[in-house]
Amino acid sequence: MKQFILYARKAVTSPDFSLEDLPGSGGRMDLVARCICSALWISHDLRRDSCIHVVACGGPNPPVVISFYGDRLRGVSPDERNIAAWIKKTLASRKKNPGISIRKLSFQPLVEELAPEGKFFYILHGKGRNISEEKLKEDSVFVIGDHIGLPRKEEEFVERFEHEKISLGTTPYLASQCITVLHYELDKKLLRSGFEPESSARKAEMIGRATLPEQ
Ligand SMILES: C[S@@+](CC[C@H](N)C(=O)[O-])C[C@H]1O[C@@H](n2cnc3c(N)ncnc32)[C@H](O)[C@@H]1O
Repeated sequence: MKQFILYARKAVTSPDFSLEDLPGSGGRMDLVARCICSALWISHDLRRDSCIHVVACGGPNPPVVISFYGDRLRGVSPDERNIAAWIKKTLASRKKNPGISIRKLSFQPLVEELAPEGKFFYILHGKGRNISEEKLKEDSVFVIGDHIGLPRKEEEFVERFEHEKISLGTTPYLASQCITVLHYELDKKLLRSGFEPESSARKAEMIGRATLPEQ
C-alpha cells in the first residue's frame, strides 16, 4: 500500500464551506481535492493500492484526519468539486462511503499509528536527496507539505522514525504534482520488475494504449 500524508494547515474541519469557494471558505480545499485526485485516480480506474491521509488543521475543530482509500472508494468522481462534496458530506455525517474515513486525530499520532506497520517515511523536501539517487521502497509513506510547507516540528517528529528526505529537483512543485511524480516513479519501477497490473484498464493505461481486449 502506497500512502500519502498531506499536511493541510488551513483545510477546514466543519462541513460549512462552499463548493463554490473551495480555496477561500474551504481553506484551500481545492489543493486537498487535487492531492486526493492525484493520489487515487488514473484514467478509467482507481489506484487500489494507494491511500491518502489529509491532516486538516483549519477551524473550527482541528485537527481532523480525512483518509481516502483507493480499494474501497465508491461513487466518487475525480473532479475537485465532487471530492470536496464527499468531504463535506462525511464531515456532516450525512453520508457514508466505505473508502472515506474522518477521525479526530493529529499529525503525530497518525505517524505513530503507521510506523509500527514497518512503514518507511519519505519526507518530500526541496533540500532532500535527489529522487534519482533513491531506490524507492514499496509500501512507504510519503509526507508532503501544503502551499506553505511542512512545519519544522512535524518534520522533526517524522525524523524519529525510519525515513529519508527526498527532493524532486530544484523546481518547486504543487503538492498534487509531487504525488503525480511519485506515482510515475513507482509505476516505472513496478513495470521494470515485471509487475502485472490488476485490470485491463490499468494495464492499458500503464503501457500507453487506449484500450485492451478483455482477457
Ligand atoms: C508548494 S510546496 C510548498 C512550497 C513552500 N513554499 C515551501 O517552501 O516548502 C508543497 C510541498 O510540496 C513538496 N515539494 C514541492 N516541490 C518539491 C520538490 N522539488 N522536491 C521535494 N518536495 C517538493 C514539499 O513537501 C512541500 O512542502
